[in-house]
Amino acid sequence: MAKRGILVTGGCGFIGSHLVDRLILDGHDVRVYDILEPQVHGKKKPKYLNKNAEYIYGDIRNTRKLKKALAGIEVVYHDASQVGVGQSMYEIGKYVSHNSYGTAVLLELLISCRNRVKKLVVASSMSLYGEGGYKCPSCGIVYPRLRNEAQLLSKKWEMQCPDCQKDLLPIPTSEDKPLFPTSIYATTKRCQEEMCLEVGIAYKIPTVALRYFNVYGPRQSLNNPYTGVGAIFLSRIKNNNPPLIFEDGRQTRDFIYVSDIVEANILAMEKKEANYSVFNVGTGEPHSIFDIAQTIINITRRDLKPRILNKFRAGDIRHCYADITKIQNKLNFKPAVSFEEGMKRLIAWSSHEAARDLSSKAQKELIKRGLAE
Ligand SMILES: NC(=O)c1ccc[n+]([C@@H]2O[C@H](COP(=O)([O-])OP(=O)(O)OC[C@H]3O[C@@H](n4cnc5c(N)ncnc54)[C@H](O)[C@@H]3O)[C@@H](O)[C@H]2O)c1
Ligand SMILES: [Zn+2]
Repeated sequence: MAKRGILVTGGCGFIGSHLVDRLILDGHDVRVYDILEPQVHGKKKPKYLNKNAEYIYGDIRNTRKLKKALAGIEVVYHDASQVGVGQSMYEIGKYVSHNSYGTAVLLELLISCRNRVKKLVVASSMSLYGEGGYKCPSCGIVYPRLRNEAQLLSKKWEMQCPDCQKDLLPIPTSEDKPLFPTSIYATTKRCQEEMCLEVGIAYKIPTVALRYFNVYGPRQSLNNPYTGVGAIFLSRIKNNNPPLIFEDGRQTRDFIYVSDIVEANILAMEKKEANYSVFNVGTGEPHSIFDIAQTIINITRRDLKPRILNKFRAGDIRHCYADITKIQNKLNFKPAVSFEEGMKRLIAWSSHEAARDLSSKAQKELIKRGLAE
């Protein structure tokens, strides 16, 4: 494998830092550009930063600084983002500025080094889909929008067919499902994905967008109550509080372990079959939110029961899990870490970590704004 000069934006974060470790292991020259967002990192630099990478601390929106960080770079991984879905619904300007405008700054700079840059890989998200794909027993495949408020207030949680109102069955969601983002965060991720591909195609910078599903693993922020259901449950359980479950707990997501996300990023860099394409990165297996809570309780052997709230939050989807046929066929990607194994690794890591349970505070912020019951 040829040695490359690689920039990872957001490389101090959960996913970015694992990617940096792998790239260093593979012998590349790695530079990280990150603002060290206090909501994610607290006041201190994370302990896990790789000593063999070069770190530049700056904001993606700072053109002058980012330009310096791009010197000599051949591959760019763009992972820097503000990542709180609920928070994005009231700190709208902040999310649009960091995520959408920040990506615009990066792209303008990339145009001037387009002859050198051989690949741009942007971290996109399953949140672009909104609800996943479904099948109606009478109407076939349907792509519904969010459940309406009347349905949610009557606590009928399953999706219903928009045409015949029968209960729908979730099916794997493929890349060509129409995109219906349901939060400002998701809209900024769509913006990042589409801007990167548009500029990439126009200026012949091979670009790949990876739509990560729900990523979990060591280094996930245990203090940021706005992200990662696994980490939120874990912080509550570590503080001897029962995990709080919205709706009835039977809603499902696709949980993928962080090392599998890293592998997909490596394939995206190395394979030209990836160029100018979008790929789902998930396991293809749905897990219910109740299962997540119960699995963490079982592994940590705590005497707690998940508390089912039977309440909803604005913008929450019911089911979404990945159809991974495309990334399997084109890039030969296969998730390697099972859900049980991954959860064990996350919990083993967390036993040495402090976890501040700020989920009640975050919930109050949403209720105050009418975004949750
Ligand atoms: N974790 C998931 O489940 C998940 C799912 C889908 C997509 N993603 C995407 O993956 C990427 C990484 O997410 P993560 O979970 O590692 O989050 P994270 O918060 O741990 O990492 C993001 C990093 O970006 C940095 N950052 C934020 N704003 C910045 C700015 N303006 N300039 C420079 N750096 C900035 C932060 O300091 C942080 O270190 C993000 O783009 C996120 O949208 C994550
Ligand atoms: Zn129908």
